[in-house]
This record gives sequence, C-alpha cells and structure tokens, in this order.
Amino acid sequence: MLLEIQGLRKDYGTTTVLNDINLTIHKGEVVVILGPSGCGKSTLLRCLNGLEAIQGGEIRFAGKNLTGKNVHWQEYRQKIGMVFQNYDLFPHMSVIENILLGPLQVQKRPKKEVLEQAQQLLERVGLLNRKDAYPRELSGGQKQRIAIVRALCMNPEIMLFDEVTAALDPEMVREVLDVILGLAKQGMTMVIVTHEMGFAQAVADRIVFIDAGNICEIAKPAEFFSKPKSERAQQFLNIFQF
Ligand SMILES: Nc1ncnc2c1ncn2[C@@H]1O[C@H](COP(=O)(O)OP(=O)(O)O)[C@@H](O)[C@H]1O
Ligand SMILES: [Mg+2]
Repeated sequence: MLLEIQGLRKDYGTTTVLNDINLTIHKGEVVVILGPSGCGKSTLLRCLNGLEAIQGGEIRFAGKNLTGKNVHWQEYRQKIGMVFQNYDLFPHMSVIENILLGPLQVQKRPKKEVLEQAQQLLERVGLLNRKDAYPRELSGGQKQRIAIVRALCMNPEIMLFDEVTAALDPEMVREVLDVILGLAKQGMTMVIVTHEMGFAQAVADRIVFIDAGNICEIAKPAEFFSKPKSERAQQFLNIFQF
C-alpha cells in the first residue's frame, strides 16, 4: 500500500474536525472523497500533504511514518502532488516558467530533461501552444490544466485533487476532468475530492463518504450510487437528484 491513514484526528482549537479516519490507498488506486460542505474533505487532503499538523493517529507513505517532528515535508511534497480549487499559478511567470520552477529550483534537475518532460505534459493536456502565455491570458480551465501539469512535472507518486473544477464554468469542467480521467487510465494513484457525481462514478475505484469528520461509508462506486448503506449518504446523494 502507498498511503496508510490510521486513527487520524485533526482538531482546530477545541473542535475536532476529523475523527478517527482510517483509510488505506494502494498504488494505482483512485479514491474519490465525497461529503457535504464542511465535513472535513479539504482538511484531510491538507493533512496528507503536511499542510496541517495532526493531533492523533498516523499517516504512512510508502511505509514511512509522516507523523512526528522530524519529517522532511519538502521531500514528501514532491511525491505527494496536490492541486487546489484556485489554481495558484504565479501571475508574473509564463506557463512554462511556472512549470519548470519546482523541478529546477527544488529538485535541481537538468533543464533539458525537465523542459522535454514539461512539453510532453503540455502536449498531453492540449496546451503546448500556450507555453509562453501568462496566467492572465488563460481561461480557468486552461489554468487548472496547467496547475495539473505543474504538479505532474515533479513526478509525484500520488496526486491529491481538491475540488479542482468547482470554480470553473461548466464548459471548462469537462476538459479538466478528462485530464484526470487520462491520469487514471495511466495508473496514477489519486485521491480526489469532487462534487461532480458522474465523474466520481466513472473515475473511482472506491468512494469514501465523509460526514462531520467521520468516514461513514467506503464502497465501490456502483454500490455507493445505487444503494448507499448509510442514511446520511442517501440524503447527500438526493441533493443531486431532481
Ligand atoms: N484553519 C481553520 N481553522 C478553524 N477551523 C477550520 C479551519 N479550516 C477548516 N476549518 C473547519 O473545519 C471543518 C472542515 O472544513 P473543510 O475541511 O474545509 O471541509 P470541506 O472541505 O469538506 O468543505 C469546517 O467546520 C471548517 O469550518
Ligand atoms: Mg473543501
């Protein structure tokens, strides 16, 4: 298994927002996290990427314990890529400069090699012709595809996606989801938070439903969407029905 979460607890002050989260993610697996707003989805991804300290439990990545004081998070953040809702590209840098920054500055890789990889990735998401554009010249969907390329160019072993299409106009949602579907086909390990139910069903190996900081249900997508076990999940799914 690639990522093991055991008994994870996250508090903000005196409020527990994640309580006893247990989840194992295998290499090549795509896990989709669903749940109502405020249930703790973003917090969970942030914990997995070391952006939040945790108050209980353990996170293991490729067998290494990521909990405790002396974890070299800069090293693990290269292996655990993350893309957020608000593509945070640097506005004063071109697309290609944004993408090359991490591999050159952090990973100290040779420029020729990284440039080749970046161009291949841009080609794959259909944006090679925009490599010299600035973020302000791109649509939201294009920026989000660039943000994904930027994360992929670090050669991560797992990718975390937090509602990456939530801020996009409907016609741009698809182009971003297609990129993620492509990654799934290639065997990328992914943890995806989304409210796109059709996409969740298509891409997920397993659905994890969280409510109020607890995992309520873990199921295969076909099972989860046809007959969720918990009442809470049923209520949640009803929101998407008319
Ligand atoms: N930095 C923070 N300080 C205090 N409370 C927070 C902070 N970030 C999130 N929360 C709270 O934690 C809970 C989970 O938030 P979040 O993980 O963002 O939920 P989701 O992504 O599922 O909508 C919410 O009640 C939210 O208000
Ligand atoms: Mg969130």
